[in-house]
Amino acid sequence: MNKYVTTAIPYVNGVPHIGHAVDYCLADTAARYFRLTGNEVRFQVGTDEHGGKIFQKAAELNIPVEKYVNDNSAAFRSFIDKLNISYTDFIRTTNEAHIKSCQEIWRRLSKHIYLASYEGWYCTGCERFVTEKECKENHGVCPDHQKPYEKIKEENYYLRISDFKDQIKEKIENDELLILPDFRKKEMLKLLEDSPDVSISRPREQLKWGVTVPEDESQVMYVWIDALSNYITVLGYPEKDISTWWPAAVQFVGKDILRFHAIIWPAMLLGLGLPLPKVIVSHGMILANGQKMSKSIGNVVNPNEVIEKYGLEAFRYFFLRHIDTFVDSDFTWEKYEDAYKNELANDLGNLVQRLATLASKNGIKILNEATDLKPSSNYCELMDRFEFSKAFDYAWDKVQDLNKRIDDEKPWALAKNGEKEKLEQCLKSLVLDLLQVNVELSPFLPSVSEKIAKTFTDPITPPSTPLFPKK
Ligand code: MSP
Repeated sequence: MNKYVTTAIPYVNGVPHIGHAVDYCLADTAARYFRLTGNEVRFQVGTDEHGGKIFQKAAELNIPVEKYVNDNSAAFRSFIDKLNISYTDFIRTTNEAHIKSCQEIWRRLSKHIYLASYEGWYCTGCERFVTEKECKENHGVCPDHQKPYEKIKEENYYLRISDFKDQIKEKIENDELLILPDFRKKEMLKLLEDSPDVSISRPREQLKWGVTVPEDESQVMYVWIDALSNYITVLGYPEKDISTWWPAAVQFVGKDILRFHAIIWPAMLLGLGLPLPKVIVSHGMILANGQKMSKSIGNVVNPNEVIEKYGLEAFRYFFLRHIDTFVDSDFTWEKYEDAYKNELANDLGNLVQRLATLASKNGIKILNEATDLKPSSNYCELMDRFEFSKAFDYAWDKVQDLNKRIDDEKPWALAKNGEKEKLEQCLKSLVLDLLQVNVELSPFLPSVSEKIAKTFTDPITPPSTPLFPKK
């Protein structure tokens, strides 16, 4: 089957932080799992480069905005590459082709678009208007950006959400558009109930950096219309027939931007006559010591530092196993170092070293048996529901069981007693079980998994340096 996997495209008003890695690691796990189970995969990543926030930041730094977005987009791309993300497409919203496609998308939506004047509270950080009620509740200050809302009065184009509300509601309710986890689905259904039409443009004087509204030079598209379109423009929409890949098998987004993906995005797709994505997975936020990471608090963790210190596989391991797939989780150096030492180095690293040494010493050969190893059905069930951290736990339990089995079965004693047949049986079964769990680890830890597979290919050769060296 063909499966299309997408990630949220980050704003380039800064360099990547560890939070951005979540989308990439989750989507990469899905993509690798889909390939492992025999599917063809298309996998998009990219950068969101328009909007007031980016324009302001470049101005503050006194850098031409074009250069600013080029540099930061490149920084994101090299971060994605560093994470060993198996993407097939990288989109930048400042691409000429994307801009043209966006304008065509607008034209095709035009019967659901109208012009009206609006007065309301706006947060440039969120790039959205908030309701009077929300503004009051937050005492006039955006809690995410710690900036006062600005009162804005202007003419905007609107997308008539009311044209689609019932359809969206029905599709979410019956899981035709499956929103995971379930408590977020409920939240979105509630939000949808009193969701007003959304403003989808800003006057050019207010927003200079964006896609021009077709047939109206005075207005620039709201950044979300431009950004959400990326998921289909990258496939070549509207020139190309995208039905090979669209609807997406799964779209990964943070909980903070789920509302855009559960309301505006479906409305756009329905307006274009396109099917809705099959699944949207909303992941939690990474917190640092229980707090949201922010530059002003000074608790932002630099991913390069983490990767340099303990290696990429440790990074992927922590973010995919100890960061819960669906809810907020904490990053602390202490937890990270613990996981490295006790789990990666002790559980997995030692297991591979021990078993490879025993097997090679005793002349064990693994030939055809290893070619048709498959992920187990329990594991697949979890993976199919995108319960990645749980599936990882499940595989890890098996790693720990194997360590226990070696201790219990004591192959060294069998060798000492000259019980050759028993010894061979015991080691072969341990190696094959390790290779089976290695298949299940491969979407999470692709490089380590490859190393393990090589270690146990004939002739079995113990790693010359530990998989996870002492730090
Ligand atoms: N540009 C929009 C997305 C447009 S998608 C059509 C945007 N960008 S962002 O840079 O603010 O966020 C990009 C992704 O990173 C989002 O999925 C967001 O939830 C995620 N994260 C940003 N900070 C995060 C954490 N601290 N933890 C986990 N994910 C985080 O929104």
